[in-house]
Amino acid sequence: MFESIDQVEQQLAEHDYITDRMLATSIFLAVNMQKPLFLEGEPGVGKTEVAKVIASLLDTELIRLQCYEGLDTQTALYEWNYPRQMLELRLQEARGAEKKEIGANIFSEEFLLKRPLLCAIQSERRQAPVLLIDEIDRSDEEFEAFLLEILSDFQITIPELGTIKAKQTPIVILTSNRTRELHDALKRRCLYHWIDYPSVERETRIVTTRVPDIRNELALQLCRFMQLIRQRDLFKLPGVAETLDWAEALLALGKDELDSETAEQTLGCILKYKADTDKIQGHEMSEMVKQAGLATISSSSETASVFSRRIE
Ligand SMILES: Nc1ncnc2c1ncn2[C@@H]1O[C@H](COP(=O)(O)OP(=O)(O)OP(=O)(O)O)[C@@H](O)[C@H]1O
Ligand SMILES: [Mg+2]
Repeated sequence: MFESIDQVEQQLAEHDYITDRMLATSIFLAVNMQKPLFLEGEPGVGKTEVAKVIASLLDTELIRLQCYEGLDTQTALYEWNYPRQMLELRLQEARGAEKKEIGANIFSEEFLLKRPLLCAIQSERRQAPVLLIDEIDRSDEEFEAFLLEILSDFQITIPELGTIKAKQTPIVILTSNRTRELHDALKRRCLYHWIDYPSVERETRIVTTRVPDIRNELALQLCRFMQLIRQRDLFKLPGVAETLDWAEALLALGKDELDSETAEQTLGCILKYKADTDKIQGHEMSEMVKQAGLATISSSSETASVFSRRIE
C-alpha cells in the first residue's frame, strides 16, 4: 500500500523510473484499490518497466506472462507433467503395487506444472506478487475471455484438485501496444492509463538517470531532437528505449554534443526502417540538429529546472 501519490513518484524515481503525476496516480489507485492496471502506449515508452519497478520497490516477486498469438490456457495456467506421471506409473508397476493403487496419486500437486497465472494465485509471499500480463493485444480473443474470468475472482478450478483461491490479490499490470482493441468487459475491470511520449523535461531526466555519465547539455539536446523527430511523419516513431540507446551510443563514441555528422552515422539507434532514415537524412537532419542545439543554448531556465532535479 502506498501512503500518497507523492510517495509513489518518489519511490519510482528512487528506482530510476521517472513518472508523471497521472501515471503515479494510476499506480497509487491500482495498488491501493487492488484493481488491475491496464497500460497502453506506443512501443518503448516504459509500460513493461512499470511492473518491474513496482515489484522491485515493493520488494516482491514479479510474475510475467508474455502474451503471443496462440497462447493457450495450459501455457498460462497449468499443465499436468505427463512424462513424470508416466514414470510414476511404471515405477509403481515395477514395485508390484496393487492394481487399484496404481496411478491413484498422479493427479496431485506434485505432478502439476505451474504456469504464471497459477503461480500468482498460489503465491505464499507476505507481500502480494506483481503479475505482469505483457502485450495482451497479441493474444487471441478466447484467451482474453478466459483472462476476464481470472481477473474477476482470482480463483481457478482444477477438476482433479478442486478450487484454488488467491490468498491475496496480486497487483496486476496489463500492457498493450494497441495492435488490436481489447474488449470493454476486460477494460471495465481495470484502471486505464495511456503512457504518452514524455515531455522534453521528463525525457531528459530519464536519460540523465539511466545514463548517469552523459553530459547534461547533450542529454537535453538529444531529447530536444527526439521531440522534433516525433513530429515527423514516420512509419515508426522512436520511444524512450531508443533515446536511451542513442545516449549510450554517443557516450561510447566519446561525444560531448550532437553534430549532424554523428547524428547521421548513429541514426540506426533511433530509426529502424529504411524509409524513415531516408526521409530524415541530409538537409532535414542538419536542420533538426541545429534546432535542438539552439534550443539547448536558449533555454537556460528550462535547463536549470531539469538539472536541479538531477538524481545523484
Ligand atoms: N519513465 C521512465 N523512466 C525510466 N526509464 C524509462 C522510462 N520509460 C521508459 N524507460 C526505459 O525505456 C526502456 C523501454 O521501456 P519498456 O520496455 O518498459 O517499454 P514498453 O513500453 O514496454 O515497450 P514495448 O511496447 O516495446 O514492450 C527501458 O529500458 C526502460 O527502463
Ligand atoms: Mg513492453
